[in-house]
Amino acid sequence: MNTLTTKLSTEELLAIEHQVCSYGDTVHYAERPKIFSRSEGSFLYDDSDHPYLDLQMWYSAVNLGYGNPRVNNALKEQIDRLPQLACQYLHKEKIELAAKIAQSIEARFGLKGRVHFNVGGSQAVEDALKLVRRNTGRQHMLAFEGGYHGRTLGASAITSSYRYREMYGEFGDRAEFLPFPYTFRFANRDSKACEDYCVQQLERKFEHEYTGAWNPKTGHSEFGAFFIEAVQGTGGYIVPPKNYFKRLETICKKHGILIVDDEIQMGFYRTGKMWAIEHFEIAPDIIVFGKALTNGLNPLAGIWAREDLISPQKFGPGSTHSTFSSNTLGTACGLEVMNIFSESDYEKIVSQKGAYFLKLLKDLQAKHSEIGDVDGLGLALRMEMCQADGNTPNRGLADRMFQRGMEGYLNVGGKNFGLILDIGGYYKNVVTLAPSFEISYEEMDLARDLLDLVICESKT
Ligand SMILES: Cc1ncc(COP(=O)(O)O)c(C=O)c1O
Repeated sequence: MNTLTTKLSTEELLAIEHQVCSYGDTVHYAERPKIFSRSEGSFLYDDSDHPYLDLQMWYSAVNLGYGNPRVNNALKEQIDRLPQLACQYLHKEKIELAAKIAQSIEARFGLKGRVHFNVGGSQAVEDALKLVRRNTGRQHMLAFEGGYHGRTLGASAITSSYRYREMYGEFGDRAEFLPFPYTFRFANRDSKACEDYCVQQLERKFEHEYTGAWNPKTGHSEFGAFFIEAVQGTGGYIVPPKNYFKRLETICKKHGILIVDDEIQMGFYRTGKMWAIEHFEIAPDIIVFGKALTNGLNPLAGIWAREDLISPQKFGPGSTHSTFSSNTLGTACGLEVMNIFSESDYEKIVSQKGAYFLKLLKDLQAKHSEIGDVDGLGLALRMEMCQADGNTPNRGLADRMFQRGMEGYLNVGGKNFGLILDIGGYYKNVVTLAPSFEISYEEMDLARDLLDLVICESKT
């Protein structure tokens, strides 16, 4: 029997998947992987058309909701007109999208620059690495403990988790990882002391030559750039103290270290600003973006860099290339996403909904001592699961919540729902919440009820 021409049951599909799909991705984090068949707004639906409220929206790739009609239509229109084009030729959507991104950055940071597209976030990070090396001649980078910049070999080298590298050996120059100001896990949860400590760890690199990457005689440092996330994503949606990045910028400037701002997860208003770094009032040298640029509809990512770093003299024709880099479908979706952002006040929408959601999480925290911390910026929200002492990380509880949500039978108001959660953080105990910007207030109330239920049912 040719199994692929017959209509297969879920059980049959899972049995085939078990045999033919690699287990190397993250599908099998779930005890029983789910097969979804459609999506709309804030919901995914399984093959019985059973709804799952999604509170992580594909790690913040689908900020404007599943099946957003405007972005879908932009894709359809592009498919009918110019569906494919080799990236060595131009199409107007690429140019207009690059212009919108460059103009938006100039308006916010007062800097002129250029955009270079690529397919996925990790590839764009690699382009940023190339640009840093090209401009500074240095291969050594600084990055944060708990930072995440992707899984290609170069991006893994600047991502702190050894787990991502252990199986493959070293590639290129591994970054030096410094602590990120994570107040909840710092002594006495003292935000100012935490900020001071993290600044000192950076300053220490330039105290004397024996720290390993600085020559006091020439004043040269070995670091090309500091790769940062303004709000750590995979690290657990950690919001740093307000002044931290200004102090980091001062030190980096003094030592000629570029700042590469990875906005792949937090960009495009996730935190209530177009770029998360805006909250911290510094101007990056390079910005890397991806995910929500196309509302997750077609792969597209990219970098923006200051003109002097990416001018045609520095980064001439053929400096890098990828077949699908500025594909017509992705750029058409990206352009529509930028149009949508420019037509409504997303700073206000996201910060108002974020404040409402945060209040719901605080109410839950008052009820469950296992919620050690809730915090957030805009609609990037965190809920750190602990033992009943509200402090000791409780990975088991977070895992059970994730699995319970995926089972899909949480009864609220006489109706069964599933709940899509993502677990991140240093101790894998943080529920990182990235709901759609289009989530309604009723859906946020439903989220609170579902979270309450999932916590109650996962405690034992
Ligand atoms: C901050 C950050 N950088 C880089 C990446 C890698 O992007 P991609 O998965 O598209 O390669 C991610 C993905 O989650 C991310 O969150």
